[in-house]
Amino acid sequence: MIEELYTPQQVELRERARHLAETVMRPVAAKYDVEQTYPWEVQHAIRDAGLSGVWIPEEYGGMGAGVLDLCLVVEEFSRACGGMGVGFAVNALGSFPILVAGTEEQKMRWLPPIASGEKLIAFGLSEKEAGSDVGSMQTRAERDGDEYVINGEKKWNTNGSVASFNTVFAVTNPERGARGISAFVVEDGNPGYRVGKHEDKMGIRAVPVVEIHLENCRVPAADLLGETEGQGFKQAMITLDRARPGVASQAVGLAQGALDLAIEYTREREQFGQSVSSFQGVQWMLADMTTQIEAARQLVHAAARTIDSGRKNISKISAMCKLMATDVAMKVTTDCVQLFGGYGYCKDYPIEKYMRDAKITQIYEGTNQIQRLVIARSLLRETAGGS
Ligand code: CAA
Repeated sequence: MIEELYTPQQVELRERARHLAETVMRPVAAKYDVEQTYPWEVQHAIRDAGLSGVWIPEEYGGMGAGVLDLCLVVEEFSRACGGMGVGFAVNALGSFPILVAGTEEQKMRWLPPIASGEKLIAFGLSEKEAGSDVGSMQTRAERDGDEYVINGEKKWNTNGSVASFNTVFAVTNPERGARGISAFVVEDGNPGYRVGKHEDKMGIRAVPVVEIHLENCRVPAADLLGETEGQGFKQAMITLDRARPGVASQAVGLAQGALDLAIEYTREREQFGQSVSSFQGVQWMLADMTTQIEAARQLVHAAARTIDSGRKNISKISAMCKLMATDVAMKVTTDCVQLFGGYGYCKDYPIEKYMRDAKITQIYEGTNQIQRLVIARSLLRETAGGS
């Protein structure tokens, strides 16, 4: 990390996040990877360190920092544990729709408890048959007096079993396709809201990913996000544009964490009477990895700065940073396992967990195939007319 590119406050924030990651997360990362239960002690430590609402404006109880600061924190957390990194970042994903589209009353109601760490929020977009193709979702929300009645199932709901709020997208007008989708914030304790299957995952096992069943789930009409129906698809896309640098930072953190371990191991490990790190072939691998990580980090931070600047067209750079950083994470963590040799393939060392945790970053918040689609569409639009 090139410190000169960051304000003293950002350097201090990153140090604070790193301290928490090293003292609270790393010691229990392996335990939660095995148990696949939710690390409440970690959540409470994040809350007590005042880091819960980094991205939430001060008027709603947050730190008032932007996407770049969020990325700095997510990277440090993920360097110690990828699951704990996303368990934190998904609160930004769930709350961005409120920030982007919520009325003042809705922001005042939902954001302060998220900012203080008292409550968590999830993001209910995907369904069994509607992953990449969000517009084909089937969950329905029908108006009934001053309520909506929601019926359907949400899939891949990260933190869904522990979050108090869930930003749920549903079709309010089936005639209008993507323009007939609306978003609602559903609160836990609603009798029509039920947590279903818990996924048994390859990686990020410290964070729950569940199915959510909405069965005649009645929500007040006032919990429709924004003023009018039909804005949900765009709200989801704008949200993903803002949130993808968070996944990219998770990937950078995982790659950096794996490289840290590989440097330490190759220094200590001796073969042919010398340290493995003294072989030029190994040094070139280390050089390639640190170069790829720094390049990814800088693209992520450029995307975050662009978003924080308030610029409107952010889809391309956001997708580019997610694509690049997550591909780097997969390559670097795989190469780090290689540097550990046979030991890297066994659970005696923490390195294999980095490789397992990295894989999902190429898949969620839009597969990297979808990122390429978003990038290409933007590129062709920008260059139409031969500029
Ligand atoms: N910002 C604002 N508006 C946008 C937009 C954006 N980034 N992208 C599209 N829109 C608008 C379009 O302008 C269009 O508007 P009009 O109807 O007014 O013309 C409308 O939305 C429909 O757009 P498209 O025709 O481009 O939609 P599409 O059906 O072709 O889909 C897509 C585009 C990019 C493939 C989109 O479906 C997509 O991003 N898919 C991936 C979804 C995804 O990332 N899911 C992950 C969920 S979160 C998760 O992983 C779980 C977790 O908890 C971590």
